[in-house]
Amino acid sequence: MKALVLAGGKGTRLRPLTYTMAKQVVPVANRPVLHYVMTHLQEAGIQDVGVIISPETGDQIQEVLSSNPWGLRFTFIPQEQPLGLAHAVKVAREYLGEDPFVMYLGDNLIGHGIREFVTSFQESGADAVILLKEVEDPRRFGVAEVDERGNVIRLIEKPKEPPSNLALVGVYVFSPAIHQAIQQIQPSWRGELEITDAIQKLLEMGKRVQSFVLQSWWLDTGKKDDLLEANRVVLDEWVQREIHGEVDDASQVVGRVRVEEGARIEQSVIRGPAVIGKGARITNSFIGPFTSVGDQCHIEHSVLEHCVLLEGAKVLGVERLEDSVIGRNAHVARTKQNSRAYRLMIGDDAEVLL
Ligand code: DAU
Repeated sequence: MKALVLAGGKGTRLRPLTYTMAKQVVPVANRPVLHYVMTHLQEAGIQDVGVIISPETGDQIQEVLSSNPWGLRFTFIPQEQPLGLAHAVKVAREYLGEDPFVMYLGDNLIGHGIREFVTSFQESGADAVILLKEVEDPRRFGVAEVDERGNVIRLIEKPKEPPSNLALVGVYVFSPAIHQAIQQIQPSWRGELEITDAIQKLLEMGKRVQSFVLQSWWLDTGKKDDLLEANRVVLDEWVQREIHGEVDDASQVVGRVRVEEGARIEQSVIRGPAVIGKGARITNSFIGPFTSVGDQCHIEHSVLEHCVLLEGAKVLGVERLEDSVIGRNAHVARTKQNSRAYRLMIGDDAEVLL
């Protein structure tokens, strides 16, 4: 079975980070979201992965997958415009051929592998199996109505009045019948060919669509607080203690902390769960739980907790920074003690809470 990973589109909700970065490569616990996706596909026994890319961010996606520790065979498939999830399947039609396939949205993070889910498709004889999760506000998602045996009765994309609280997670398995269904749908009110409409069309064609409810967590990295939450959960559940960098005698590293190669920790305390990226330098500081410090970051005379620092960020002399996301190569520094003036150079769509 092949997989189709959607890593095109344009990320607008995670601005300003997504002005320069595809949302599928935004790091969670210092790993791009897309890496977790590939790990799940490999664990499910998949070897061939088509990756949908956009002209704007295709290079970054290819770069981030180039190390390929999973040994997957990637085929990159350009989608000129983000005309919808079903449009992406159309673009990949030739690559997919007549085989069933797993479709996985590249910005999705789930707390559980998909092996069982893929097996449920093989055993069910259905033409589609969709992964669902109970959520508090289903209006932001595709929503399914299912019967007591898990058969899907109806699907609707971002409904104002949701028929249930079961949201489509963004992982699907399809038989080739989906291609016929896609041929028969029209763009939605938002101008996109919706995969949700194509699955609804499958139902109208008399095909069977089965559901599978995800028991573990599902995180959307859509906004700042979602990203911090994803980071908290992944650090909490998946990070092990591994010290590859240098920690001097005056420092303490407590609990589940991963310190990558070339990182240097001097006269500081790191309290896990936390990750410290390659070549990062931490001096005279306290790094509290649920913090990810990216590669080549520099932290001095500061206290950080529940923060995400992307590659090359600097935090100098900051008394306490919490619940913050600092972009690549951004600097946060205290200039004069007791100065009451703030001096800022902030990019578009940034947020500063003083
Ligand atoms: O997150 C789950 C939701 O994802 C589902 O509940 C919805 O049913 C489904 O339609 C989808 O909704 P979104 O509006 O959140 O999708 P988004 O535009 O964020 O795109 C999802 C991924 O697919 C993202 O990684 C970008 C990629 N994409 C998107 C479009 C529209 C493409 O590769 N090409 C596209 O044309």
